[in-house]
Amino acid sequence: MKGFPDVRMRRLRATESLRKLTAMAMPGPEKFVWPIFVVPGKKRREAISAMPGQYRLSVDMLLRELEPVAAQSVGSVLLFGVPDAAGKDARGSGAFAPNGVVQQAIRAIRRAFPNLLVMSDVCLCAYTNHGHCGVLNKQGAVDNDPTLKLLANVAVSHAAAGAQIVAPSAMMDGQVAAIRSALDAAKFSDVGLMSYSSKFASAMYGPFREAEQSSPQSGDRRGYQGDAADLRAALRESALDEAEGADILMVKPALFYLDVITRLRERTDLPIAAYNVSGEYSMLLATAERGWGDLRAMVRESMLALTRAGADIIITYWAHRYQELIAS
Ligand code: PBG
Ligand code: ZN
Repeated sequence: MKGFPDVRMRRLRATESLRKLTAMAMPGPEKFVWPIFVVPGKKRREAISAMPGQYRLSVDMLLRELEPVAAQSVGSVLLFGVPDAAGKDARGSGAFAPNGVVQQAIRAIRRAFPNLLVMSDVCLCAYTNHGHCGVLNKQGAVDNDPTLKLLANVAVSHAAAGAQIVAPSAMMDGQVAAIRSALDAAKFSDVGLMSYSSKFASAMYGPFREAEQSSPQSGDRRGYQGDAADLRAALRESALDEAEGADILMVKPALFYLDVITRLRERTDLPIAAYNVSGEYSMLLATAERGWGDLRAMVRESMLALTRAGADIIITYWAHRYQELIAS
């Protein structure tokens, strides 16, 4: 290959239209998923202090908030329930109450916004009084196998309410197979399953745990979530979830794990979702607030990074501001 002076990289960089001609396109709004927090009651819109711009919303307020989101053609929402303290118990049974807050929200969104895909997070941590993602055994450790049935109940209750995609995030072994077979047995074979397949025990979930009031009361989640220092285990987890019947795989967090997205992209033909988590969101906001960076430019650069790494679907707290922050 010839080099300089025959080759000049700057030739195709000289103008905006030349750059656009060769560059990757920013993904459209239909590729984005907005995570939202739903609380019981009416007229509630509570600011989450660690996530400026995000709120805990009661179903009535949520519907209002979704109007501009649907108008921008944002593809999907991912629902997280935040029950009141009275709604928590040792088994997280509020998570599969037929008239629980997530179930209500799913029904209301399906009715009001038929073109918005509804995804739901399937876990127990917001509903257990100990804050872990599964039930505890006598020693206080998270007990894998008895948790599977509960997670399956949650998924089936979301499907019954109208969720089109359920997204298990508890990191229990066998959860994808357990949920798939429970959905099929309940005649929800058409409901999709997006597995939080390569999910790491991360320091970047702090703001979310404030939003969800779901921090473990004792211990941490390293006994079930992946180790940031073990790439191969993360890839095995995704392969196992694919074999168990997942329709979509996920890497979470996203920006600190671009290598995982890329490696997974080389190994699977399933769609890959990247979950741009709460800490990644708040980090950019805090930087911009201090005048240390331009928010729109940082958001766009990070969305391109996820796309370049190989993500097909982007779950991000920026999604509701697509036109303002992401669109070209
Ligand atoms: C809980 C869950 C978490 C997130 C999504 N589902 C927190 C955790 O695992 O502790 C994090 C999302 C975020 O930080 O934005 N199953
Ligand atoms: Zn959980």
